[in-house]
Amino acid sequence: MDYQEKTVLLKNGKSCVIRRAEEADAERLLRYQKETSGETPYLVSGPEDIDWTAEQQAKRIERWNASADRLRLLAEVDGELAGVSIVYANNTQTRLRHRCCVDITLYRKFWGLGIGTALLREVLGAARAAGYEQAELEVVSANTPAIGLYKKLGFDAVGTMPRALKYGDGSYADFLLMVKRLD
Ligand SMILES: CC(C)(COP(=O)(O)OP(=O)(O)OC[C@H]1O[C@@H](n2cnc3c(N)ncnc32)[C@H](O)[C@@H]1OP(=O)(O)O)[C@@H](O)C(=O)NCCC(=O)NCCS
Repeated sequence: MDYQEKTVLLKNGKSCVIRRAEEADAERLLRYQKETSGETPYLVSGPEDIDWTAEQQAKRIERWNASADRLRLLAEVDGELAGVSIVYANNTQTRLRHRCCVDITLYRKFWGLGIGTALLREVLGAARAAGYEQAELEVVSANTPAIGLYKKLGFDAVGTMPRALKYGDGSYADFLLMVKRLD
């Protein structure tokens, strides 16, 4: 999916550039995945799951940029990577093509500045422009900041998946399933 770079003003007065990930971003995207997955217990992947190389990451970005139904957007503040949000098709079958999945994660030091709101808004706008009718996500039910962001942007909770994640200490976390109509 295409995307026109945009600059937004944050709560701290700084500017944030939102743009599509390019192959040259592969190395720092890999570092971001390793680092952010260790900053919060609320993600599906832990640092141990990030086992691909920068070359593989670059290929993945290339494939995504060539596809009409996937987009990976980056948020940068003062040239530093603050976070990433993605949208991708729920599945390939014709009857599922109206549905997309979205995801977002920022580095902890950039939480609370309005980047999540701006970045997710852009991803949802691009998803609507690409013809998706509904955006979906799963969020750990204890993840209050993320649920607040999703509700603010019009997502409704539609159900719960019990014991969706199992942590190393044997404890579980439930997922809240959330949906937003785009049409
Ligand atoms: C979830 C996340 C993307 C939010 O991004 P953010 O830039 O901090 O969010 P914003 O500053 O734009 O805030 C958006 C809304 O979220 C809610 N929110 C944000 N932080 C919150 C907090 N600490 N407690 C409660 N609600 C919070 C509020 O409703 C806020 O709206 P407001 O600014 O009008 O009050 C960010 O916290 C993050 O990356 N978390 C770790 C990864 C993660 O959990 N991703 C979601 C996986 S499903």
